[in-house]
Amino acid sequence: MITKVSVIGAGAVGSMLSFHLFSRLSLSELAIVDIAGDLAKGVSLDIEDSRAFFNSSTKVEGTDDFCSIKDSDIIVITAGVARKEGMSRLDLLKINAKVAKDVSTSIKKHAKNCIVITVTNPLDLITYIVHKETGFSRNRVIGMGSLLDSVRLLNVLYKESNMSTASFEAFVFGLHNNAMIVSENHIRIKGEKAGKFLSRDAIKRIQEKTAHRGGEIISYLKNRSANFAPSFSVFKLIKTIAEDSNEIIPVSVLLSGEYGLSDVCVGVPCVINKTGIAKIIEVELTNDEKEKLASVKEEFKQLKELA
Ligand code: 2OP
Repeated sequence: MITKVSVIGAGAVGSMLSFHLFSRLSLSELAIVDIAGDLAKGVSLDIEDSRAFFNSSTKVEGTDDFCSIKDSDIIVITAGVARKEGMSRLDLLKINAKVAKDVSTSIKKHAKNCIVITVTNPLDLITYIVHKETGFSRNRVIGMGSLLDSVRLLNVLYKESNMSTASFEAFVFGLHNNAMIVSENHIRIKGEKAGKFLSRDAIKRIQEKTAHRGGEIISYLKNRSANFAPSFSVFKLIKTIAEDSNEIIPVSVLLSGEYGLSDVCVGVPCVINKTGIAKIIEVELTNDEKEKLASVKEEFKQLKELA
């Protein structure tokens, strides 16, 4: 049973996620932790002021003290520097790797049985670092990236085809960056292949748009990145864990031989339940997609060296 969730980082994604958790789940405790002085305190007071609207009895604590994550069932890591215009996710690596290591040390100390969800970029590498630093089994370290990329794909499909999002089954896998794999074969429209309804040009456009969506949003927001869809993606994962619903959701996970890859975290479809990642689903890939996925290994090596 999920009774306590801690959100590390009270920035845009952390605050929005905390509000979703407060207003939509019956938690006993919600801890919001941020090293930036009183930020988390202010956010927590603002959130709990909406208590009467939701008849909520969740205890909300905003603090800069990591002891407050004690005995959490789920901890979400949103802390770190957000990507700004002109910055690649890789630029963030050095700063955010350190944040991930420090947070992992606290998690190991105060909540050694929790499930961790990572949001901080570069997402797949941060997921890897958290996995290594906590020593948690891979089912308990979940990277949110491919779920966000997949809901973005559903929105792009909706806009391009004028059909409801419920008509589609589609997911994105690979790394949470511009090289993500938006597989045409894994876009189904009421069970039919995408090519039955969409032209080749439209499919290409959809793939491009999806892969660049995060960057497109930053180009308009300038000094910050997306937060509505990212925070709701994390909320969806927490709800799936809390309800033990065994839903298939694409997330970043440490692979151990699946898809021919080992010792990298990458987005693939997984069954999510109260144990976290209950199962990794191996789907059929085209030769091109297999090559693209294999190249993750090289990129990961560089990332690991940089870290
Ligand atoms: C995004 O894709 C910044 O990774 C974040 O919006």
